[in-house]
Amino acid sequence: MKKKFLSMTMAAVLLSFSLAACGGDDASKKSEPADQTEKTDDAEKEAPDDSADAPEEKDAETPEEPAGGAPSDLANKDKPLVWFNRQPSNSSTGELDMAALSFNDNTYYVGFDANQGAELQGTMVKDYIEANIDSIDRNGDGVIGYVLAIGDIGHNDSIARTRGIRKALGTGVDKDGDINSDPVGTNTDGSAAAVQDGKIEINGKSYVVRELASQEMKNSAGATWDAATAGNAIGTWSSSFGEEIDVVVSNNDGMGMSMFNAWSKDNKVPTFGYDANNDAVAAIAEGYGGTISQHADVQAYLTLRVLRNALDGVDVDTGIGTADEAGNVLSEDVYKYNADERSYYALNVAVTADNYQDFTDSTKVFEPVSNQLDESAHAVKKVWLNIYNASDNFLSSTYQPLLQNYDDILNLEVDYIGGDGQTESNITNRLGNPGQYDAFAINMVKTDNAASYTALLSQ
Ligand code: BGC
Repeated sequence: MKKKFLSMTMAAVLLSFSLAACGGDDASKKSEPADQTEKTDDAEKEAPDDSADAPEEKDAETPEEPAGGAPSDLANKDKPLVWFNRQPSNSSTGELDMAALSFNDNTYYVGFDANQGAELQGTMVKDYIEANIDSIDRNGDGVIGYVLAIGDIGHNDSIARTRGIRKALGTGVDKDGDINSDPVGTNTDGSAAAVQDGKIEINGKSYVVRELASQEMKNSAGATWDAATAGNAIGTWSSSFGEEIDVVVSNNDGMGMSMFNAWSKDNKVPTFGYDANNDAVAAIAEGYGGTISQHADVQAYLTLRVLRNALDGVDVDTGIGTADEAGNVLSEDVYKYNADERSYYALNVAVTADNYQDFTDSTKVFEPVSNQLDESAHAVKKVWLNIYNASDNFLSSTYQPLLQNYDDILNLEVDYIGGDGQTESNITNRLGNPGQYDAFAINMVKTDNAASYTALLSQ
């Protein structure tokens, strides 16, 4: 009610107000166009109250009296901090960076269960091959050939997905006690050392499964998970051994859709991705094989909710495993919390021709956590948040729009900073004034680089 009222009465002054807000803020000048939109929303939230508003609303907006008792003069190093999408960890060994994950008492990571999702993706592809065995082997050579687009060889989600596919299809080989996740380049003759030929038996007939090619999709400037690079790679692969490619697999939908549009759609070759971005889900109707939802609607909520709880000085489980006063609560089938890792993990769901109709809007808030918090008990707070690469399909087309929906619900005024996906300094340079913010949400370019941020907050 309150918000609607504000929207109507403030409409007339919004334009000048939001311009003023943008003009005074250094970070917003340098950030993506989306930031400007968000600023407009935030200006609406910040707009001076008028006489029709309840008196307690004014109290709630007085900075000296934050609702949960979080003092406004906290040192930056003691402010709530959430890492998301890229878990602080060693990019070669995968070992978690516990110093970063426990930077202060209000530090957490929010991501999703990479292994559960990877297994789902592998099983989805295997099930598809089995169900379509009569038509899948396009050149009838008895070898089911697939190509694999790898996102980032040092990103734990990417590594898990590569392993998940190789495990399900029997093409994985052991390396140091786990499945090797290295790209093979081209392997049309089956001689690559990082993979082996798999075998599947269907209806008494046995087929070889071969990873014909795989490559990290990194562009010349260094950006990983690069969709354009994947589109070029399928062009190269298909022109030299296109007849042998029966299945296309990708560590994410951004790269998967690029390959689908460049080649596999026209050639009717099933293509599988990950993320359940809107365009990928819609493409299932046109032959895209399937994708995995990593429950971005739950992750985006958790990203901001853990900050909200810390700012309110309430138990971190509030509105997560325990219902808050507005009725927001998550059930155990959509997330899990690992206290040792200080990490929240959303659970994944396979999206295929059977159920894609339920996933057509990836930016819709998750209904059980869509209830507006009362501003008188949860005063507006300022959050600095970055996206490692403003052109990452998943983060820009799914995750950020979701965050922008939840920031209103949780009364958080968020400045969204979009990085170039290549250098950490492009982002850290825009964290020049952490003292202006109450909390931070960080998506690193490289999982090893948490210290670049914590050093700034410790100054
Ligand atoms: C997503 C990818 C994305 C990457 C960025 C992954 O979790 O699935 O699509 O590019 O995160 O860090």
